[in-house]
Amino acid sequence: MHRLLLAFLSLFSLPLLCLATHGDSFDPFRRHHQRSQSKPRNIKYCLQDKYRGENILNSWKFFSAPDPTHGMVDYQSREDAITHGLAYVQKDGTTVLAVDNVTELPPGKNRASVRISSPKTYNQGLFIADFWAMPFGCSVWPAWWSVGPNWPNGGEIDVLEGVHNSVNNQLTLHTSSGCSLDTEVQPQVSGSISGHTNCASSGADNTGCAFIDSDCRSYGRDFNLNGGGVYAHLWDSEGIKAWFFSRGEIPKDILEGEPKPELWRKPVAFWKNGESCDIGKHFYEHELVIDTTLCGDWAGATYEVAGCPGRCTDAVTNPRNFDNARWKINYIAVYQPA
Ligand SMILES: *[C@@H]1O[C@H](CO)[C@@H](O)[C@H](O)[C@H]1NC(C)=O
Repeated sequence: MHRLLLAFLSLFSLPLLCLATHGDSFDPFRRHHQRSQSKPRNIKYCLQDKYRGENILNSWKFFSAPDPTHGMVDYQSREDAITHGLAYVQKDGTTVLAVDNVTELPPGKNRASVRISSPKTYNQGLFIADFWAMPFGCSVWPAWWSVGPNWPNGGEIDVLEGVHNSVNNQLTLHTSSGCSLDTEVQPQVSGSISGHTNCASSGADNTGCAFIDSDCRSYGRDFNLNGGGVYAHLWDSEGIKAWFFSRGEIPKDILEGEPKPELWRKPVAFWKNGESCDIGKHFYEHELVIDTTLCGDWAGATYEVAGCPGRCTDAVTNPRNFDNARWKINYIAVYQPA
């Protein structure tokens, strides 16, 4: 999301509880492991928080202020979202967050939608988001992202984001001044650097520094047709890396709840900590966010070039345009190194 002006009062994360108890098991790398090695091996990740089902509806915050990115949405309070059927849990435990697809609206009026954020904030971690489906369609701008206080000072990590009928996910950082994407990482990632390498927002330029996933299953219709998948991102002393796994390709270690990122294929995106960007200085106390907005700064400005019919504001009037504008969340899990 761009141009975030509001930030919630941050809560500090509780000391992590390691639920697994394998800390003393034999680890051939442990004795020789050096912190200074560029590739840490065999780090064990322990579950810190898992959000699923009713727990998401009950514990996440519902943001109901005007959309800071100027979208044509009225974000609903928890009560209103639940009453109007825009936030609910299916029998199988899937949490659904929907845009109103019932109400006909006069031109210029905002449509009801939902934006939620985690009850805790995080400094570093391994974040696994499993979605069965995501919103898409003309005028629709969904995002799974995280943001620190005092935007852009605490930084913003956009893990899954796009507009309209895009088929490629865009992964973007936004920061205060003094952070750029180290383009030498290109051989280490499968995504392509979008061309704008300055991560800093300044004045009206909030482009951020981005990678584009070339996998058409990474966004929108094809993401959904393939049963969704997992977005994983690792934020640690090396920087921030992100992976996408379509439903049929989710590594076994993720399915078993013991993620081992060192075994995964190349990440789609990697913003390396170093001279080009001090990640620890630019990213802190992040709350996790899921939202769907309509038109606004990005989707409004690109509506016609994306080949969408008519004008964005007119698209908002017709509920039939939003039958596919819903998140189906399996779970969000946060792990920390043991
Ligand atoms: C809204 O969208 C859902 C999911 O696509 C669909 O099941 C439902 O019938 C739609 N509502 C209306 C009023 O058409």
